[in-house]
Amino acid sequence: MFKKMYSCYNTKMGLFRFFASTILVLFLLSSCSFHSTDAFDPLDPNGNITIKWDVISWAPDGYVAVVTMYNFQQYRHIQAPGWSLGWTWAKKEVIWTMMGGQTTEQGDCSKYKGNIPHCCKKDPTVVDMLPGTPYNQQIANCCKGGVINSWGQDPANAVSSFQISVGAAGTTNKTVRVPKNFTLKAPGPGYTCGPAKIVKPTKFVSADGRRVTQAMMTWNVTCTYSQFLAQKTPTCCVSLSSFYNDTIVPCPTCTCGCQSNGTQRGSCVDVFINYFLLKLHCSPETPHLASVVSDHGKNNYVPLVQCTKHMCPIRIHWHVKLNYKEYWRVKITITNFNYRMNYTQWNLVVQHPNFDNLTTLFSFNYKSLTPYGSINDTAMLWGVKFYNDLLMQAGPSGNVQSELLFRKDASTFTFEKGWAFPHRIYFNGDNCVMPPPDAYPYLPNAGSRWEVSLITLVVTLIASMAVVLTYI
Ligand SMILES: *[C@@H]1O[C@H](CO)[C@@H](O)[C@H](O)[C@H]1NC(C)=O
Ligand SMILES: *[C@@H]1O[C@H](CO)[C@@H](O)[C@H](O)[C@H]1NC(C)=O
Ligand SMILES: *[C@@H]1O[C@H](CO)[C@@H](O)[C@H](O)[C@H]1NC(C)=O
Ligand SMILES: *[C@@H]1O[C@H](CO)[C@@H](O)[C@H](O)[C@H]1NC(C)=O
Ligand SMILES: *[C@@H]1O[C@H](CO)[C@@H](O)[C@H](O)[C@H]1NC(C)=O
Ligand SMILES: *[C@@H]1O[C@H](CO)[C@@H](O)[C@H](O)[C@H]1NC(C)=O
Ligand SMILES: *[C@@H]1O[C@H](CO)[C@@H](O)[C@H](O)[C@H]1NC(C)=O
Ligand SMILES: *[C@@H]1O[C@H](CO)[C@@H](O)[C@H](O)[C@H]1NC(C)=O
Ligand SMILES: *[C@@H]1O[C@H](CO)[C@@H](O)[C@H](O)[C@H]1NC(C)=O
Repeated sequence: MFKKMYSCYNTKMGLFRFFASTILVLFLLSSCSFHSTDAFDPLDPNGNITIKWDVISWAPDGYVAVVTMYNFQQYRHIQAPGWSLGWTWAKKEVIWTMMGGQTTEQGDCSKYKGNIPHCCKKDPTVVDMLPGTPYNQQIANCCKGGVINSWGQDPANAVSSFQISVGAAGTTNKTVRVPKNFTLKAPGPGYTCGPAKIVKPTKFVSADGRRVTQAMMTWNVTCTYSQFLAQKTPTCCVSLSSFYNDTIVPCPTCTCGCQSNGTQRGSCVDVFINYFLLKLHCSPETPHLASVVSDHGKNNYVPLVQCTKHMCPIRIHWHVKLNYKEYWRVKITITNFNYRMNYTQWNLVVQHPNFDNLTTLFSFNYKSLTPYGSINDTAMLWGVKFYNDLLMQAGPSGNVQSELLFRKDASTFTFEKGWAFPHRIYFNGDNCVMPPPDAYPYLPNAGSRWEVSLITLVVTLIASMAVVLTYI
């Protein structure tokens, strides 16, 4: 093969071209693989957060702008404690006032007398206001504690805005300098923002639709997420079971951490001790739970998990429940082991080849994510508003569940080789660690066609008893 190619290029020029093109191909290949790990999420290829600055009026020494963040990601939202946005001013700008948001630090405003700016830092950091902010300090889409839902789950709540009055800035579209180095400091590493680009001024349509106004000037910043850059330790894991095998495959041990042995107690909460103390109506003699849970108050977002072998705050259990003639049924249970977190607006992304034939889904919302058009194997699931969209902190109500009914696709359906189990599960955008495929519950060799019959019912009963027993 190589010899043949070589003989085609037997002049010096040809040899040069051959090597040059090889290097080009290698370069292209390497830049491709760089992109695939860097900013590209195959399940959400166009996902981004766009930050739009609309200068809505000029002021004597600067301008007033409305800054709006759109979370165009399908399933990755920003949960409590919310977003935090930083940038670097191009000149000596200051922030006179803000509405619907505030900077975390004022900085050195000693140059100013009388009217003191809200912030004089060269690199301000802005956060959202909390719910309950007085109306005269609010603007539309503000004051949600920095929580932004995803475009796929709830587009009406995928936007967050604040208003900013900038001084010591340009006062025409020729003299204004766009800020530099936009950074989404929270939700933290993983997001990379590009430079601000001046775009066509936004047009605003009045509420009654009868008048259109226009921004003086607009610029956009696009931020993208990369799981590779985030390099998070896992936050969730998957366990598996089925009606045809009574083995319950647990989450891999030490997925999210290991139980400290001996010396360092208190890094997880022993549920059995607490359970029995509560049963016996014991007052908070429970040193770990009482001190560790309440001590740091509501603003501590470091997980405090129940002691388990996997030590993950979240476990997804996938149980293959029933097999009918034309359908099969799966039960999904999400369990919260974190005492410090009520997950609002949680979501799950699940990849399984049978999602193109999902027939019914009970008590969750569903949306197909079709990244490749024809391959329709990935779904986003999330809770029903006011019913189970809040996944409560660890404890008796710290779980939500749903059942899925799939129509069998004759060409692919089988219970063999773990086909009934998902390929990939994300909880709130984080990849959940699956057990190794060779540990999946086997299909017993005898009777590979299990349809609903007396035997199945008995086996199902035993299996669900086993599940119940392990959950107690
Ligand atoms: C950001 O996402 C939106 C919506 O998916 C898309 O229209 C836009 O092209 C994206 N922007 C960039 C720069 O990728
Ligand atoms: C600035 O405004 C002038 C008109 O006032 C307009 O023609 C020009 O395109 C604007 N430039 C930018 C960068 O927006
Ligand atoms: C950009 O901002 C980040 C975070 O605030 C900071 O660490 C970095 O040094 C800044 N880079 C430049 C070139 O200003
Ligand atoms: C700037 O962002 C807004 C809001 O996402 C979008 O509507 C607009 O198309 C963007 N402009 C460009 C040129 O990307
Ligand atoms: C306890 O921790 C030490 C060091 O972290 C480790 O080497 C040892 O295997 C652990 N023992 C158990 C029983 O987990
Ligand atoms: C979760 O919500 C319940 C009920 O609203 C509340 O009592 C509890 O303190 C919350 N837990 C956390 C960690 O916010
Ligand atoms: C994907 O599957 C869902 C559920 O079966 C279906 O509603 C949707 O139309 C499918 N989309 C495509 C592009 O096949
Ligand atoms: C399952 O979906 C695929 C792709 O949409 C379709 O070709 C097939 O006929 C479906 N199977 C059944 C049993 O409906
Ligand atoms: C159930 O699956 C496990 C693998 O997880 C396997 O070791 C066991 O033999 C299977 N049981 C039966 C009855 O096939």
